[in-house]
Amino acid sequence: MSSVTLDSISKIYGEQTIIPPLSLEIKPGEFLSLLGPSGCGKTTLIRMIAGLELPTQGKVIIGDQTVFDSTSQHFVPPEKRNLGMVFQSYALWPHLNVFENIAFPLRCRKVPQSDIEGKVESALEEVQLHGLGKRKPNELSGGQQQRVALARALVARPKVLLLDEPLSNLDTNLREEMCEQIGKLKAQFPMTMIYVTHDQNEAVRLSDRIAILNKGKIEQLGTVQELRNSPKTEFVRGFFRV
Ligand SMILES: Nc1ncnc2c1ncn2[C@@H]1O[C@H](COP(=O)(O)OP(=O)(O)OP(=O)(O)O)[C@@H](O)[C@H]1O
Ligand SMILES: [Mg+2]
Repeated sequence: MSSVTLDSISKIYGEQTIIPPLSLEIKPGEFLSLLGPSGCGKTTLIRMIAGLELPTQGKVIIGDQTVFDSTSQHFVPPEKRNLGMVFQSYALWPHLNVFENIAFPLRCRKVPQSDIEGKVESALEEVQLHGLGKRKPNELSGGQQQRVALARALVARPKVLLLDEPLSNLDTNLREEMCEQIGKLKAQFPMTMIYVTHDQNEAVRLSDRIAILNKGKIEQLGTVQELRNSPKTEFVRGFFRV
Protein backbone atom coordinates (compact mmCIF):
# COMPACT_ATOMS: atom_id res chain seq x y z
CA MET A 1 0.00 0.00 0.00
CA SER A 2 1.31 3.42 -0.89
CA SER A 3 0.15 6.96 -0.51
CA VAL A 4 -0.20 8.99 -3.71
CA THR A 5 0.59 12.69 -3.55
CA LEU A 6 -0.06 15.16 -6.33
CA ASP A 7 1.79 18.40 -5.65
CA SER A 8 0.56 21.31 -7.79
CA ILE A 9 0.34 19.29 -10.99
CA SER A 10 -1.08 20.97 -14.04
CA LYS A 11 -1.70 20.04 -17.66
CA ILE A 12 -1.77 22.44 -20.56
CA TYR A 13 -2.46 21.32 -24.14
CA GLY A 14 -1.43 24.07 -26.54
CA GLU A 15 -3.19 27.17 -25.27
CA GLN A 16 -5.72 25.27 -23.24
CA THR A 17 -5.34 24.65 -19.52
CA ILE A 18 -7.02 21.29 -18.88
CA ILE A 19 -5.85 20.99 -15.26
CA PRO A 20 -4.88 24.14 -13.36
CA PRO A 21 -2.36 23.44 -10.55
CA LEU A 22 -3.96 20.74 -8.41
CA SER A 23 -2.83 19.13 -5.17
CA LEU A 24 -4.28 15.95 -3.68
CA GLU A 25 -3.14 13.46 -1.09
CA ILE A 26 -4.47 9.91 -1.22
CA LYS A 27 -3.80 7.84 1.88
CA PRO A 28 -2.27 4.35 1.84
CA GLY A 29 -5.09 1.80 1.43
CA GLU A 30 -7.67 4.45 0.65
CA PHE A 31 -10.36 4.04 -2.04
CA LEU A 32 -10.67 7.46 -3.62
CA SER A 33 -13.00 8.29 -6.50
CA LEU A 34 -12.52 11.10 -8.99
CA LEU A 35 -16.05 12.05 -9.92
CA GLY A 36 -17.04 14.64 -12.49
CA PRO A 37 -18.78 15.31 -15.80
CA SER A 38 -17.41 14.22 -19.17
CA GLY A 39 -14.38 16.24 -20.26
CA CYS A 40 -13.50 17.56 -16.80
CA GLY A 41 -10.04 15.96 -16.89
CA LYS A 42 -10.46 12.66 -15.00
CA THR A 43 -8.60 10.50 -17.54
CA THR A 44 -5.87 13.12 -17.93
CA LEU A 45 -5.35 13.16 -14.17
CA ILE A 46 -5.20 9.38 -13.73
CA ARG A 47 -2.87 9.04 -16.74
CA MET A 48 -0.50 11.56 -15.13
CA ILE A 49 -0.44 9.41 -11.98
CA ALA A 50 0.30 6.35 -14.13
CA GLY A 51 3.08 8.13 -16.03
CA LEU A 52 1.30 7.80 -19.38
CA GLU A 53 0.93 11.56 -19.63
CA LEU A 54 3.48 14.16 -18.47
CA PRO A 55 2.24 16.96 -16.24
CA THR A 56 3.18 20.41 -17.52
CA GLN A 57 4.26 21.37 -13.99
CA GLY A 58 4.36 19.79 -10.55
CA LYS A 59 5.34 16.70 -8.68
CA VAL A 60 3.88 13.19 -8.32
CA ILE A 61 4.94 11.08 -5.34
CA ILE A 62 3.96 7.41 -4.86
CA GLY A 63 4.83 6.05 -1.40
CA ASP A 64 8.28 7.46 -0.64
CA GLN A 65 9.30 7.70 -4.30
CA THR A 66 9.05 10.87 -6.36
CA VAL A 67 7.97 9.53 -9.76
CA PHE A 68 7.70 12.87 -11.51
CA ASP A 69 9.17 16.29 -10.82
CA SER A 70 8.95 19.01 -13.47
CA THR A 71 11.67 21.09 -11.81
CA SER A 72 14.36 18.43 -11.89
CA GLN A 73 12.94 16.70 -15.01
CA HIS A 74 12.76 13.48 -13.00
CA PHE A 75 10.51 10.83 -14.56
CA VAL A 76 9.92 7.21 -13.51
CA PRO A 77 8.29 5.22 -16.34
CA PRO A 78 4.88 3.58 -15.78
CA GLU A 79 6.24 0.02 -15.50
CA LYS A 80 8.51 1.06 -12.62
CA ARG A 81 5.74 2.69 -10.57
CA ASN A 82 4.36 -0.53 -9.08
CA LEU A 83 0.82 0.17 -10.15
CA GLY A 84 -1.92 -1.59 -12.05
CA MET A 85 -4.32 0.15 -14.40
CA VAL A 86 -7.66 -0.66 -15.97
CA PHE A 87 -8.26 1.60 -18.97
CA GLN A 88 -11.51 3.19 -20.06
CA SER A 89 -11.36 0.99 -23.20
CA TYR A 90 -10.06 -2.38 -21.99
CA ALA A 91 -6.83 -2.17 -24.04
CA LEU A 92 -6.29 -5.93 -24.17
CA TRP A 93 -3.77 -7.25 -26.70
CA PRO A 94 -5.90 -8.84 -29.43
CA HIS A 95 -3.18 -11.25 -30.61
CA LEU A 96 -2.59 -12.67 -27.12
CA ASN A 97 -4.93 -15.11 -25.44
CA VAL A 98 -6.46 -14.37 -22.04
CA PHE A 99 -3.70 -16.22 -20.16
CA GLU A 100 -0.93 -14.28 -21.91
CA ASN A 101 -2.73 -10.96 -21.52
CA ILE A 102 -2.85 -11.51 -17.76
CA ALA A 103 0.71 -12.92 -17.64
CA PHE A 104 2.12 -9.83 -19.38
CA PRO A 105 2.83 -7.68 -16.28
CA LEU A 106 4.49 -10.70 -14.63
CA ARG A 107 6.73 -11.27 -17.65
CA CYS A 108 7.65 -7.56 -17.63
CA ARG A 109 8.67 -7.93 -13.99
CA LYS A 110 10.71 -11.04 -14.84
CA VAL A 111 8.67 -13.31 -12.57
CA PRO A 112 10.02 -16.88 -12.99
CA GLN A 113 8.06 -19.01 -15.47
CA SER A 114 7.35 -21.59 -12.73
CA ASP A 115 5.37 -18.98 -10.73
CA ILE A 116 3.47 -17.45 -13.62
CA GLU A 117 0.93 -20.23 -14.16
CA GLY A 118 -0.26 -20.28 -10.53
CA LYS A 119 -0.52 -16.50 -10.34
CA VAL A 120 -2.49 -16.21 -13.59
CA GLU A 121 -4.83 -19.05 -12.58
CA SER A 122 -5.52 -17.35 -9.22
CA ALA A 123 -6.16 -14.04 -10.98
CA LEU A 124 -8.60 -15.76 -13.35
CA GLU A 125 -10.44 -17.21 -10.37
CA GLU A 126 -10.59 -13.86 -8.58
CA VAL A 127 -12.53 -12.40 -11.51
CA GLN A 128 -14.54 -15.58 -12.09
CA LEU A 129 -13.07 -16.43 -15.48
CA HIS A 130 -11.68 -19.83 -14.57
CA GLY A 131 -11.12 -22.02 -17.64
CA LEU A 132 -11.13 -19.21 -20.25
CA GLY A 133 -7.33 -18.74 -20.43
CA LYS A 134 -7.00 -20.02 -23.99
CA ARG A 135 -9.60 -17.70 -25.55
CA LYS A 136 -8.65 -14.62 -27.51
CA PRO A 137 -10.22 -11.30 -26.42
CA ASN A 138 -12.51 -11.23 -29.49
CA GLU A 139 -14.02 -14.53 -28.32
CA LEU A 140 -15.22 -12.93 -25.08
CA SER A 141 -18.17 -10.72 -24.17
CA GLY A 142 -17.55 -7.10 -23.18
CA GLY A 143 -18.00 -7.95 -19.52
CA GLN A 144 -15.55 -10.84 -19.74
CA GLN A 145 -12.99 -8.60 -21.46
CA GLN A 146 -13.44 -6.04 -18.73
CA ARG A 147 -12.70 -8.74 -16.14
CA VAL A 148 -9.55 -9.82 -18.02
CA ALA A 149 -8.40 -6.20 -17.86
CA LEU A 150 -9.05 -6.21 -14.12
CA ALA A 151 -7.19 -9.51 -13.63
CA ARG A 152 -4.23 -8.14 -15.62
CA ALA A 153 -4.14 -5.03 -13.45
CA LEU A 154 -4.23 -7.11 -10.25
CA VAL A 155 -2.00 -10.05 -11.03
CA ALA A 156 1.29 -8.46 -9.97
CA ARG A 157 -0.28 -7.25 -6.70
CA PRO A 158 0.43 -3.57 -7.32
CA LYS A 159 0.56 -1.13 -4.42
CA VAL A 160 -1.74 1.23 -6.29
CA LEU A 161 -4.62 0.28 -8.58
CA LEU A 162 -5.92 2.89 -11.03
CA LEU A 163 -9.34 2.29 -12.60
CA ASP A 164 -10.66 4.55 -15.37
CA GLU A 165 -14.43 4.04 -15.71
CA PRO A 166 -13.98 0.25 -15.59
CA LEU A 167 -17.71 -0.44 -15.70
CA SER A 168 -18.75 2.07 -18.35
CA ASN A 169 -19.18 -0.45 -21.18
CA LEU A 170 -21.19 -3.02 -19.26
CA ASP A 171 -24.93 -3.60 -19.15
CA THR A 172 -26.79 -2.91 -15.92
CA ASN A 173 -26.62 -6.45 -14.49
CA LEU A 174 -22.95 -6.93 -15.16
CA ARG A 175 -22.19 -3.48 -13.89
CA GLU A 176 -23.89 -4.36 -10.66
CA GLU A 177 -21.97 -7.62 -10.40
CA MET A 178 -18.60 -6.03 -11.16
CA CYS A 179 -19.21 -3.17 -8.76
CA GLU A 180 -19.73 -5.77 -6.05
CA GLN A 181 -16.58 -7.56 -7.15
CA ILE A 182 -14.51 -4.39 -6.93
CA GLY A 183 -15.94 -3.82 -3.45
CA LYS A 184 -14.75 -7.31 -2.50
CA LEU A 185 -11.29 -6.65 -3.92
CA LYS A 186 -11.08 -3.59 -1.76
CA ALA A 187 -11.79 -5.70 1.32
CA GLN A 188 -9.55 -8.59 0.24
CA PHE A 189 -6.32 -6.92 -0.86
CA PRO A 190 -4.43 -4.10 0.76
CA MET A 191 -4.15 -1.62 -2.11
CA THR A 192 -4.60 2.08 -2.65
CA MET A 193 -7.34 2.45 -5.25
CA ILE A 194 -8.10 5.47 -7.42
CA TYR A 195 -11.35 5.11 -9.27
CA VAL A 196 -12.50 7.39 -12.08
CA THR A 197 -16.20 7.55 -12.76
CA HIS A 198 -19.03 9.83 -13.72
CA ASP A 199 -21.48 7.48 -12.02
CA GLN A 200 -22.37 8.86 -8.61
CA ASN A 201 -23.91 5.61 -7.36
CA GLU A 202 -20.73 3.65 -8.01
CA ALA A 203 -18.63 6.32 -6.31
CA VAL A 204 -20.91 6.35 -3.28
CA ARG A 205 -20.92 2.57 -2.93
CA LEU A 206 -17.18 2.07 -3.16
CA SER A 207 -15.35 5.14 -1.93
CA ASP A 208 -13.75 6.15 1.33
CA ARG A 209 -13.55 9.68 -0.08
CA ILE A 210 -14.67 11.35 -3.29
CA ALA A 211 -13.01 14.25 -5.11
CA ILE A 212 -15.56 16.16 -7.18
CA LEU A 213 -13.91 17.59 -10.28
CA ASN A 214 -15.14 20.40 -12.45
CA LYS A 215 -13.11 21.79 -15.36
CA GLY A 216 -9.90 20.28 -13.98
CA LYS A 217 -10.41 21.68 -10.48
CA ILE A 218 -11.28 19.86 -7.28
CA GLU A 219 -14.50 21.50 -6.16
CA GLN A 220 -14.62 19.47 -2.97
CA LEU A 221 -12.90 16.45 -1.43
CA GLY A 222 -14.67 14.54 1.28
CA THR A 223 -16.59 11.51 2.47
CA VAL A 224 -20.04 10.82 1.06
CA GLN A 225 -21.48 12.16 4.30
CA GLU A 226 -19.53 15.42 4.07
CA LEU A 227 -20.47 15.98 0.44
CA ARG A 228 -24.12 15.30 1.16
CA ASN A 229 -24.40 17.30 4.35
CA SER A 230 -22.14 20.23 3.64
CA PRO A 231 -21.56 20.87 -0.06
CA LYS A 232 -19.10 23.73 -0.26
CA THR A 233 -19.89 25.11 -3.73
CA GLU A 234 -22.90 25.65 -5.94
CA PHE A 235 -21.48 23.13 -8.38
CA VAL A 236 -21.30 20.38 -5.74
CA ARG A 237 -24.77 21.24 -4.48
CA GLY A 238 -26.18 20.90 -8.00
CA PHE A 239 -24.09 17.97 -9.14
CA PHE A 240 -23.91 15.58 -6.19
CA ARG A 241 -27.39 14.20 -5.79
CA VAL A 242 -27.13 10.75 -4.25
N1 LIG B 1 -4.13 14.98 -26.31
C1 LIG B 1 -5.00 15.97 -26.10
N2 LIG B 1 -4.86 17.16 -26.73
C2 LIG B 1 -5.70 18.19 -26.51
N3 LIG B 1 -6.74 18.13 -25.65
C3 LIG B 1 -6.93 16.98 -24.99
C4 LIG B 1 -6.07 15.84 -25.17
N4 LIG B 1 -6.51 14.85 -24.35
C5 LIG B 1 -7.59 15.34 -23.71
N5 LIG B 1 -7.84 16.61 -24.09
C6 LIG B 1 -8.93 17.47 -23.59
O1 LIG B 1 -8.81 17.52 -22.19
C7 LIG B 1 -10.08 17.58 -21.56
C8 LIG B 1 -10.18 16.50 -20.52
O2 LIG B 1 -10.19 15.23 -21.13
P1 LIG B 1 -10.28 13.89 -20.30
O3 LIG B 1 -10.19 12.75 -21.26
O4 LIG B 1 -9.27 13.94 -19.22
O5 LIG B 1 -11.74 14.00 -19.68
P2 LIG B 1 -12.61 12.95 -18.84
O6 LIG B 1 -13.02 13.67 -17.59
O7 LIG B 1 -11.85 11.69 -18.68
O8 LIG B 1 -13.89 12.74 -19.77
P3 LIG B 1 -14.80 11.41 -20.01
O9 LIG B 1 -15.70 11.30 -18.80
O10 LIG B 1 -15.58 11.75 -21.23
O11 LIG B 1 -13.89 10.24 -20.18
C9 LIG B 1 -11.10 17.47 -22.68
O12 LIG B 1 -11.56 18.75 -22.98
C10 LIG B 1 -10.32 16.89 -23.84
O13 LIG B 1 -10.84 17.32 -25.07
MG1 LIG C 1 -12.17 9.74 -19.35
